[in-house]
Amino acid sequence: MGRLKRLAIFYFSGTGNTQLLAEQYAASFRHLDVAVDLIKIEDYTRTRTSPEINGYDAVGLGYPIHAFNAPRIVYEFINLLPPGAGRFAFIFKSPGDPFANGGSTLPVRRRLMAKQYEVVHESMLVMPANFLQKLSPELSRVLYDVACRRIAIFTGEILKGVRRLQQNRPSERIYTTLSWFEQLGIRLLRLLYYVRPSCTGCGLCAERCPTANIEMSKGRPNFGWRCLCCLRCVYLCPVGAIGIRGCDALLFKDGYNIRRIINDVRNIPVNIEELKGCNRRLLAYVKQSNSIHKLCRP
Ligand SMILES: Cc1cc2nc3c(=O)[nH]c(=O)nc-3n(C[C@H](O)[C@H](O)[C@H](O)COP(=O)(O)O)c2cc1C
Ligand code: SF4
Ligand code: SF4
Repeated sequence: MGRLKRLAIFYFSGTGNTQLLAEQYAASFRHLDVAVDLIKIEDYTRTRTSPEINGYDAVGLGYPIHAFNAPRIVYEFINLLPPGAGRFAFIFKSPGDPFANGGSTLPVRRRLMAKQYEVVHESMLVMPANFLQKLSPELSRVLYDVACRRIAIFTGEILKGVRRLQQNRPSERIYTTLSWFEQLGIRLLRLLYYVRPSCTGCGLCAERCPTANIEMSKGRPNFGWRCLCCLRCVYLCPVGAIGIRGCDALLFKDGYNIRRIINDVRNIPVNIEELKGCNRRLLAYVKQSNSIHKLCRP
């Protein structure tokens, strides 16, 4: 790859984790004199318009993992991308657990390659899960710090043209294949969303939904069929008025705000094994962050 001068990082982030990582990638490239534009993919999928990629030497694509796969909006965005004409592309994903590497990267890679992008680098950056198991602020901070260290290394690799592609073991591919059913189920979630009487009708949820899935009617939000289950509306509602029937126990009662968490925690204990919620997989991921080559099995 010739010298990279300017790149676009496209990303989707439901609740802020992937956005932080995209910002970190951007900062890391800028530090090495590469101009970077950070672009939310929902700005294009909402209007069904194609982004301009002329002037970029390469593109990055970042997304959270939803059911061992990229959220639907990522595939919708790839459909909108103009032909890459051989441009280099790198992918980063942010699962809430390193289990099965967050799933296979093949579906995303193949769709990008079908659009004539040459995928040269894929990375997994584990961040705290935004539902089900709430990590302690300290462990969340550890994961973020590890992600930043990995990004610094990966940025250098991308600039040097080092190829790092996920191996996509059969188990990872099976999980991802099965997840297509779960993605169908996610669409049906519309039937489960409900709004508590505490709703003030402020309209923030409708304004910020990445798929314009919420419409305000008589001062109350109404949910349509385009839900990604990204949980953004659930956590941004100032009065916590949005719930999902049958799933409320899996959501975090006091919300999820990764920026606040990492800003609040400054002093990380040296022994991460003592941190609450640090399971074997997370521990292995954190420990191996110093030997990334082994972890990612390029
Ligand atoms: C509907 C849904 C499904 C998820 N499925 C997975 C999964 O299969 N594996 C995983 O490791 N994390 C999973 N997660 C956790 C997120 O991938 C993780 O917290 C991610 O960093 C959130 O990024 P964001 O804040 O940018 O949306 C899921 C989250 C949601 C909301
Ligand atoms: S963000 Fe919360 S309070 Fe505001 S309209 Fe939506 S549900 Fe109601
Ligand atoms: S309705 Fe809520 S959970 Fe569904 S896509 Fe919109 S913001 Fe995300």
